Amino acid sequence: MNIDNLINKDKSIPTHEHHGGEIYKLNSTSQILDFSTNINSFFPYHLIRHSYIDSIHEISKYPDTYSTDLRRELVNYFNNKIDLKNLIVGAGSMDLISIFCDTFVNLNDEIIICQPTFSEYSWAVRKKKGKIINVYRKPYNDFAINSDAIINKITSSTKVIFICNPNNPNGSIDNPHELKKIVKIASENDVLIFLDEAFIDFTGESNSFVSYINTFNNLVILRTFTKFFGIPGLRIGYAISSYNIIDLLNQFQNLWSVNSVAQNVAKSILKMKDYISRTINFFSEEIKFLSFQLSQIPGLKIYPTNCNFFLINLRKTGLTASKLQTSLLKDNILIRNCTNFDGLNEYYVRINIKTRDLNLKLLNSIRKIIN
Ligand SMILES: Cc1ncc(COP(=O)(O)O)c(C=O)c1O
Repeated sequence: MNIDNLINKDKSIPTHEHHGGEIYKLNSTSQILDFSTNINSFFPYHLIRHSYIDSIHEISKYPDTYSTDLRRELVNYFNNKIDLKNLIVGAGSMDLISIFCDTFVNLNDEIIICQPTFSEYSWAVRKKKGKIINVYRKPYNDFAINSDAIINKITSSTKVIFICNPNNPNGSIDNPHELKKIVKIASENDVLIFLDEAFIDFTGESNSFVSYINTFNNLVILRTFTKFFGIPGLRIGYAISSYNIIDLLNQFQNLWSVNSVAQNVAKSILKMKDYISRTINFFSEEIKFLSFQLSQIPGLKIYPTNCNFFLINLRKTGLTASKLQTSLLKDNILIRNCTNFDGLNEYYVRINIKTRDLNLKLLNSIRKIIN
């Protein structure tokens, strides 16, 4: 039987790109220090033990499809600036990217993606056969957003603009005036803005665009428990938008997709206010320390970040990302080779920020290789 004859008529199968954290692909994983992800692996997991174990009582029944208790907790978390009807919870934010595209993207709709960025927006758009229009950030200006270039690309066929803020892989916060300008002009042109704030927790809520939800009804904000709260394995994220949009997204979501353990644990995490402020302070100190230390290594170009990772350009060292990655693996360190990001090249790597001891270990290995 020829399966190829049964799949998508035009055979344009959307393939996934490689990502950080693919540690399971290595032969021996036990000793590896994984600096390739952008997940905070220092979350105090013991503090969620109770909610995790208590969830055992829930797993004999289907979970609440609408994650009502968790949404209530989120309304509290956002100090009642939003309400239950502004929220949808997904099995990871990836689930919501996919649901969003299922809901809004049709054949040949023009979808603007602000590159280089998380590659799965493109995947979800290609799956729906939308037409991708890539607009690149400014590499010569630390990958600042190019709002004029984005606005110039809006046509009568534009449906959505995807922006990640802070952006993966560079990690810095976009200028809020530039962002607001894009949201406003998009709104005037009936274009949706999909604003991925997966990393905003590292910078503090004041940088979030959640407060604009009631001003701009074209805005969809994506959030996740994966990055700052370090629970990628539980698969839980959420989106915030206008009632109409949330209502539509609900129609396209599979029933019961968010499991009850994830819902319970996420609820308990939102109450950990102390942890949240301590973690923001911790990373802002480590960012200062590491950016200074890395900048002392000849040839490295370090991009400013507000998150738990750094993008680095190796070109002036003469090393490629692949060469540095292979050399660091000899010291059991895995970093992210960023060659496959649309808009980057073979000289870019991304490293995760960890505790001081581990950061020093990484620094020493990089110094040794580059010297
Ligand atoms: C910018 C960004 N958004 C969303 C995701 C998806 O995360 P999750 O599905 O675990 O919430 C990722 C994962 O790497 C990401 O980098």
